[in-house]
Amino acid sequence: MNTSTTTSGLVIAIDGPAASGKSSTARAVAGRLGYRHLDSGSFYRALTLAALQRGIPVDRWPLLTHEELDSLHVDAVPADGSFLVRVDGQDVSEAIRGADVNAHVSLMAAVPAVRGWLLEILRETGRNGGLVADGRDIGTVVFPDADLKIFLISDPEVRARRRLLQQGAHPDGETLRQETERLAARDHLDQTRSIAPLVPAADAITLDTSDLSFEEQVSAVVELSRVREP
Ligand code: DC
Repeated sequence: MNTSTTTSGLVIAIDGPAASGKSSTARAVAGRLGYRHLDSGSFYRALTLAALQRGIPVDRWPLLTHEELDSLHVDAVPADGSFLVRVDGQDVSEAIRGADVNAHVSLMAAVPAVRGWLLEILRETGRNGGLVADGRDIGTVVFPDADLKIFLISDPEVRARRRLLQQGAHPDGETLRQETERLAARDHLDQTRSIAPLVPAADAITLDTSDLSFEEQVSAVVELSRVREP
């Protein structure tokens, strides 16, 4: 798969827990710097969609071989400052956000063979620099030599509120309490899984966005990147 770009510049890794604003921040930072944005979660989502479409039973996913993963025909092409993730050559950007994929993607992401299969593909996207990549293990596993590593955190209740607002739900009372609990449970799973757990890289800069506006958090990352430019 040819996912390389012709841009030059830094490789910036943005990791953090669910609903910490990684992808939207990474996209905006990439836009400000003229870099490309890589949403690594979209690849796990596309593999999940393809496996569900092919009817591969979930209990077989941990046994998927390299050849079987190849045969799911998941790839990505550079497009509009990011990457268009495809299954069988079809744009699946919308389909990978569906409820069925949401419910199953963490199972796919926990399969060691899947993470191994994806590693070189993800690394290839940063070969020429000029990349802002977000995920859970970008600074620790995918780009351990990234020029700048950011670990975004924010208060679980702040994240729950943001997520509910995004979904058009009313973020108060019992709804907010339940969403906060769901996020805390997901954080715990991501932090304690044996493969590529969600932990900040030793050289990551932790940015607590609880009291920052979106614009402030984007500017903070852009400012940090300016300091790292050669
Ligand atoms: O960020 P997201 O919700 O699109 O991620 C989808 C799933 O993939 C989620 O279960 C976390 C997982 N993931 C991962 O394990 N490592 C990454 N680098 C990115 C996502």
